[in-house]
Amino acid sequence: MQRLILPLPGNEALATRLAAQCGGELGAVETRRFPDGESYVRLHGDPRGRVVDIVCTLARPDPGFLSLVFAADAARDLGAAEVNLVAPYLAYMRQDKRFQPGESISSLSFARVISSTFDRLVTVDPHLHRHPALAALYAIPTATLHAAPYLADWIAANVADPLIIGPDEESEQWAGSIAARIGAPHVVLRKTRHGDRQVDIEAPDLARWRDRTPVLVDDIASSGRTLVAAGAKLAGMRPPQCVIVHAVFAEDAWEQVSSCFERVVSTDTVPHASNRIELTPLLADAILRDLRD
Ligand code: R5P
Repeated sequence: MQRLILPLPGNEALATRLAAQCGGELGAVETRRFPDGESYVRLHGDPRGRVVDIVCTLARPDPGFLSLVFAADAARDLGAAEVNLVAPYLAYMRQDKRFQPGESISSLSFARVISSTFDRLVTVDPHLHRHPALAALYAIPTATLHAAPYLADWIAANVADPLIIGPDEESEQWAGSIAARIGAPHVVLRKTRHGDRQVDIEAPDLARWRDRTPVLVDDIASSGRTLVAAGAKLAGMRPPQCVIVHAVFAEDAWEQVSSCFERVVSTDTVPHASNRIELTPLLADAILRDLRD
């Protein structure tokens, strides 16, 4: 039976591409607020007996989260055989332990709600810190997809003589695999984070790479301060480029980051003006092949 693909508002473009690539039927989720602020949700499309893929990227998740849960519950009530969440960007990955007494471990709470609402989760490069895989947090089967080959191929096609640069030790995984795929050198900087918007970056002497185009790669721009601090270390080099997976760009991050680089591009996991790298084939393949961690 043809699967039903239901985008939450704001996810229609990606869902349309996914439906076309998966041969699924594209439905819709109507939402609005009652006068007192409660959420109204109505599904358009018949879930009976079908696999339903609800598409909802989770950048800025709080305002629409109850609508997402209501949509999934409605699909199940209406007879869906399976209700999956396709969240190209997965939220609530940072607070995966109690750093200060009394703090909520929001990664675990969020995972518990998602796991009790959906049968399966498909996502791209979740920002795993202290856990090796989503299975440590999520009780449902998950498919963790990796955008690095797509970033690498974009860089190979668009940047001459790149030097791949990771802004911190955590980015070694992206920088190393991207550089290896396209046969480019890579360098990793060192970051010290002092607060949500305060980071310091130390860089080695980059003078020997002056004949290369610096390309900063990272999984996410959130406050953007990591990329801004890293970009400041590239003075004297060719005009720097920046390629990221998740274009979250909170508050003034886009203005800050885009003023530091000749070009900033991202994948389409979060809809944004910088989106240039389409991951629909990666997501469609995972949905159809039922990939697991
Ligand atoms: C580091 O842990 C991540 O890979 C990113 O560098 C970080 O999350 C970016 O955050 P922000 O944009 O707020 O500096």
